Amino acid sequence: MYGPFDENILKSSLYHINNLRYLTNSYKFDTLPQQSDLVPNEYEGGFKIWECTEDLLIYSGKLDFKNKSVLDLGCGSGLLGINALMEGAKNICFQDFNHDVMLNFTIPNVWINFFNLYNNVDFANPDFILNEMNDRCNFVYGDWGQIIHMDLIPMKYDYILTSETIYNLDNFTKLHDMFKHYIKSDGKIYIAAKSHYFGVGGSVHLFLKMLTEFKLNKKNNFIYNICYNNDEGIVPRQIIELSIPSIE
Ligand SMILES: C[S@@+](CC[C@H](N)C(=O)[O-])C[C@H]1O[C@@H](n2cnc3c(N)ncnc32)[C@H](O)[C@@H]1O
Repeated sequence: MYGPFDENILKSSLYHINNLRYLTNSYKFDTLPQQSDLVPNEYEGGFKIWECTEDLLIYSGKLDFKNKSVLDLGCGSGLLGINALMEGAKNICFQDFNHDVMLNFTIPNVWINFFNLYNNVDFANPDFILNEMNDRCNFVYGDWGQIIHMDLIPMKYDYILTSETIYNLDNFTKLHDMFKHYIKSDGKIYIAAKSHYFGVGGSVHLFLKMLTEFKLNKKNNFIYNICYNNDEGIVPRQIIELSIPSIE
């Protein structure tokens, strides 16, 4: 419970979050999708919290977020970025494919958790929280290809966290390019994923294969390591850690 939360304050305040950045031609829908977890290139699943988010939240306990910058790629609920915020990250960028997910799920979640973070703030006077959110958070929606093309993400990050984003082979290159473009040279990337996405084609194996091929073709110099395994479910789940070797 978060106390006397006034939805109207949230709605009017969200309007003023001036670093929310819009892509002009992103897909918009008026009602939430009822029938399907995913509609490729239209709705990419952001309204649901997917299993691998839990794995990466658990693994995040090993990471030091204090004063770090974090990009939560394909954020949906925003839980990975929110957790980093709670653990002292100074700057978070939340990215999702859909405008509606961002406005109706990510931002309200971040907003509510900011109140939780500063638990003495008066709910009737949310300006302090708005300023903090403006200072520490960016919200970007749209397709990864467009985001890179328009360079919509404001900086490079110490950590990129992403969960359940390698299910579609068609997006592998774009995701790889996002990593390359937005990670600091000493940063780390964590990709939480199921080993196979039956029916849609992606898998950890194929993503690693692409990384290796790209490395051979000098398109990246990432080194990877499987840092977490969860074999409890029907489909095994893993976390891939990517980093860039330092040049001595
Ligand atoms: C299956 S959902 C996972 C949501 C959340 N990370 C979780 O684990 O609960 C996949 C997410 O990847 C992002 N995504 C997928 N394809 C994308 C694309 N081509 N461009 C931008 N974002 C994309 C969407 O934001 C979507 O919310």
